[in-house]
Amino acid sequence: MPPIPIVDEPVPRPRRWGEAELHRLTEMVRQDSLFYWKGPQTTALTREFQNHTPLRHVFPTSSGSAALHVAVAALRLQPGDEVIVPPITDMGSVIGILYQQGVPVFADVDPRTYTLDPGSVARAITPRTRAIMPVHLAGNPCDLAALVALCRPRGIAVIEDCAQAWGARIDNRPVGLAGDLACYSFNDFKHVSCGDGGIVATNDDDRGAGLSKWGDKCYDRVGGGREPADLAPNYRMSEPQAAVAAAQLTKLAALVAARNRLGERLTRALRNVPGVLPPETLAGAYHSYWFYFLRLELGRFSGDRDAFAAALRTEGVAAGAGYISAPLYRYPVFQNHNFFGGHWPVRDLGLTRMDYRAVECPVAEAILRDGITLPINEAMSDGYIDKVARAIEMVAGRLRIA
Ligand SMILES: Cc1ncc(COP(=O)(O)O)c(C=O)c1O
Repeated sequence: MPPIPIVDEPVPRPRRWGEAELHRLTEMVRQDSLFYWKGPQTTALTREFQNHTPLRHVFPTSSGSAALHVAVAALRLQPGDEVIVPPITDMGSVIGILYQQGVPVFADVDPRTYTLDPGSVARAITPRTRAIMPVHLAGNPCDLAALVALCRPRGIAVIEDCAQAWGARIDNRPVGLAGDLACYSFNDFKHVSCGDGGIVATNDDDRGAGLSKWGDKCYDRVGGGREPADLAPNYRMSEPQAAVAAAQLTKLAALVAARNRLGERLTRALRNVPGVLPPETLAGAYHSYWFYFLRLELGRFSGDRDAFAAALRTEGVAAGAGYISAPLYRYPVFQNHNFFGGHWPVRDLGLTRMDYRAVECPVAEAILRDGITLPINEAMSDGYIDKVARAIEMVAGRLRIA
């Protein structure tokens, strides 16, 4: 008989949709239109969103990537303008920048929080920098105070990518309030989901008034004008998605409170395990644990990170070896500058000299080499987390050589 693993139960899974969603969907099918503009579900979604993130202008979108594209478009980039981004994120962070003929510029991240390092951002700023895009990775808030302080005097906009950070807070205020524009995702894997969807929001009245235009073919829904002055895609969210998303947001506070409690419990348990580095949060930051991301001091263990993760899996821990396979700039689309049919017009026209083959962010590369990801969710109990902690401690003890 194989030995019983330390984590002797499957990963608990929460029931994600239920009566609240059904109630809204029932209301929705009685409507005579499923169009977003003045739609009851879209209105409810906006209200629920504003209940926890008080931003005046809110535009629900078809995805988080769409929300970020709308935010970038609202800045009216000129071809070759630069937006500073971290290299550990989802492609959705940079797609909109490239479609607007902007240039993603990769700055490195902090080795303990895995979020944009203000020092590296400062070094990446040039006269062409129009915005930065801090990503609250895994739900861990960035050092926004330092980043905003860098950007404000220079007129550089801050687009917060909150896709992974529903419910995360800084000094008891939700993320998304300190920057100029905030973007969220409702894709299937996020804390809250409607299948696919997103939100872009801002307190900036000038940019806010135009948000719907940038995601709705540049049509003017207020005045009724349908003669676009700019080019803009259709990124609208429809009423069925909004119904589900609105119901989901009513559950957010409880769900995030549970994840934060469990995540912090795991961190406390791992703090004194030699060679295992739990993620760190900045003073005043409240981590909403979309997932749990720790690092290993690899020289202290026999074998590599993948061997460590495999040993954890043998003990019943659903450990992932790393997060994304490589920093974004190492993806073929960047290495080949293959953004539009094998070309990058912005570079071909001499509007940027960016060469992604020469980019290197050593901290991000190290994190992706030695990081381990663990699922965390509101259905887990303290006892389950304690078993995960024990398994990590055991495996570390077994593999430790220094
Ligand atoms: C940090 C980050 N930004 C943007 C996105 C894009 O969101 P979506 O998948 O809804 O387009 C994601 C999705 O995984 C993400 O994790």
